[in-house]
Amino acid sequence: MSTLHSSVKVGPYTFAHRVVLAPLTRMRAEPGAKPGPLMAEYYAQRASEGGLLIGEATIAAANGNGYLGAPGLFEDSQIAGWKRVTDAVHAKGAKIFLQLYHAGRQSNIDVQPAGSIPVGPSEILHGGVAYTTEGWVPNTPNRALQIDEIKALVESFRTAAERGIKAGFDGVELHGANGYLVDQFLQDNSNKRTDSYGGSIENRTRFLLEVTQALISVWGSDRVGVRVGPSGTWGDMGDSNPEVLFSYVAQQLAPLNLAYLHLIEPRILGNIEDENANPAPIAAQLMRKHYKGTIIAAGGFNGESAEAILQAGDADLVAFGRHFIANPDLPERLRQNLPLNAYDRPTFFGGTEVGYTDYAFHAVAATA
Ligand SMILES: Cc1cc2nc3c(=O)[nH]c(=O)nc-3n(C[C@H](O)[C@H](O)[C@H](O)COP(=O)(O)O)c2cc1C
Repeated sequence: MSTLHSSVKVGPYTFAHRVVLAPLTRMRAEPGAKPGPLMAEYYAQRASEGGLLIGEATIAAANGNGYLGAPGLFEDSQIAGWKRVTDAVHAKGAKIFLQLYHAGRQSNIDVQPAGSIPVGPSEILHGGVAYTTEGWVPNTPNRALQIDEIKALVESFRTAAERGIKAGFDGVELHGANGYLVDQFLQDNSNKRTDSYGGSIENRTRFLLEVTQALISVWGSDRVGVRVGPSGTWGDMGDSNPEVLFSYVAQQLAPLNLAYLHLIEPRILGNIEDENANPAPIAAQLMRKHYKGTIIAAGGFNGESAEAILQAGDADLVAFGRHFIANPDLPERLRQNLPLNAYDRPTFFGGTEVGYTDYAFHAVAATA
């Protein structure tokens, strides 16, 4: 039997295999950032007996969105829709962690409350796009957060995490990668603050650690995961010394007894291959030196390379994004070494059930 299909402990849970559904923004939520029945069906399809799913980036504060159609937990009215999702996942014998995010400067005025300006650590223009009622449009230049607003955001993450319990999740993951707010604080090309949240590596890591502690205060440390993208450049990101920065992050998280540390390999830029990057999984290798707890590796894995990183000991589980979009029964396909459906990029973000819940299961594919 492969290591990928051997059991593993994550926090208080034991999973039957190590194939994790990566967090995947699909922008199919109903108005009000509420998950509807279609989302429940999508997650239930990907829930395998004894598997771990990580929910898509879920908006933690009213000013935290960058994508129309992304779900939230910044209001109580969003709890019921998520409960439908978690119930459907549990009925299949799987567990699901909530991923909380704040888009920070990766946003547009159109998806902000009452047309306010997006916020970030510093006022720095960058070139990304947001998804609005007008489709994909350039991000609106952001303003810098005041200190009291930063404290209020930590509190928003805490209350969103509380709603996550009411919604029936099994744990919570902080999205600290892909150029969203937490990452914007971490990396020094987006953080030019001169107060206690900017400058030194210790100061730039402060927001991540404060939010992590807020999540721990709600869930207990062994049900909290943190996702970072060491050397990630997607979203106009960059750091003058990423190896030192992310090593420090791992060292700070190591003693917290978290459920896991979730790493994205820099060979993937958001959701596409970076042809110029090192093709080897270097992030997990680097972070393992500083982090002996459970590591989930993500970014560009197939069955073979997932098995290799587990056997090398640099990760304990592997999260799959694009392959899991196209293969609802991915754990079983990898177990049996079955061919994989190809993913359809144009239907990744927004739309209907097409490219969402209509990918074939292998038994169906075999008879089609
Ligand atoms: C459609 C799509 C949406 C994504 N949304 C999120 C997200 O909400 N949160 C997150 O942390 N990463 C997100 N990612 C990144 C994936 O979790 C993953 O890191 C990336 O796809 C690389 O893994 P893969 O090579 O297995 O696809 C997204 C990727 C794709 C393709």
